[in-house]
Amino acid sequence: MTITIDKLGHEVGAEVIGLAPDRLLADDSIPAILMTALEEYGVLVFRDLHLDPETQVAFCRKLGQVDTSPGHHPVEGIYRVSLDTSKNSSASYLRATFDWHIDGCTPEDDAYPQMATMLTAKAVAASGGETEFASTYKAYENLTAQEKLTLAPLRVVHSLEASQRLVTAEPTPEQLSAWRERPTKEHPLIWTHKSGRRSLVLGASTDHVVDMSPDRSRALLDGLLARCAAPERVYTHQWSVGDTVIWDNRGVIHRAAPYPADSPREMLRTTVLGEEPIR
Ligand code: OGA
Ligand code: MN
Repeated sequence: MTITIDKLGHEVGAEVIGLAPDRLLADDSIPAILMTALEEYGVLVFRDLHLDPETQVAFCRKLGQVDTSPGHHPVEGIYRVSLDTSKNSSASYLRATFDWHIDGCTPEDDAYPQMATMLTAKAVAASGGETEFASTYKAYENLTAQEKLTLAPLRVVHSLEASQRLVTAEPTPEQLSAWRERPTKEHPLIWTHKSGRRSLVLGASTDHVVDMSPDRSRALLDGLLARCAAPERVYTHQWSVGDTVIWDNRGVIHRAAPYPADSPREMLRTTVLGEEPIR
């Protein structure tokens, strides 16, 4: 069966049709086809794929090196995304997924931001819990020529504290010191990729622009984020059990629509590690 790739959103997202799970591993032409499509569309949706965790990890290994840090799940390479603390003891941190972000902007070490993230829906929320995506490549392209010039030299400090404060505005001293154990990271506002494409580095982890007052910094970053994620630019994925989605974490920001902490929603995530720094 031929694979069809149908554009979904106006600026980001496409659906891959006609791909059976066994072909993911059996057909060696698939990784290159999907990576090319991912570069073009930013997000690929596979409805009703019902990928098992082992196949998900095995396929992601064909795309690059997989993150194998412990993920509250028996299969190595799977991280369980759930707000239920009985399923994921670090669940409280995951409330930060409700804000727009790029994964891996404030790593514990010098790791590069991940290349791609794959999520499979094991259980979905009764309401809420959609995942939204917006292209940071398009956000750069949509700047005026003047903005491209004035923003080019700017550098931005990213912190775990900035993203956690959005969901916990009044942290306890213990929370605050735990957040501050994570080193802050300075990134350029505009990422010039190996491919030559440029994107904006935006999202919840942006703390402030270097050498700019906090107020001006916040207004600039919030304004750029609002334009990047304007409703007409966003693809919203409404999950059904068995759907799989992969996104290009280098050129896409994403967030989860809020869902209750006691929701059965459970996503199995596999992270393909990045090969290039933000520069
Ligand atoms: C993530 C993430 C969003 C979601 O796993 O990195 O942001 O919809 N997930 O669960
Ligand atoms: Mn994320």
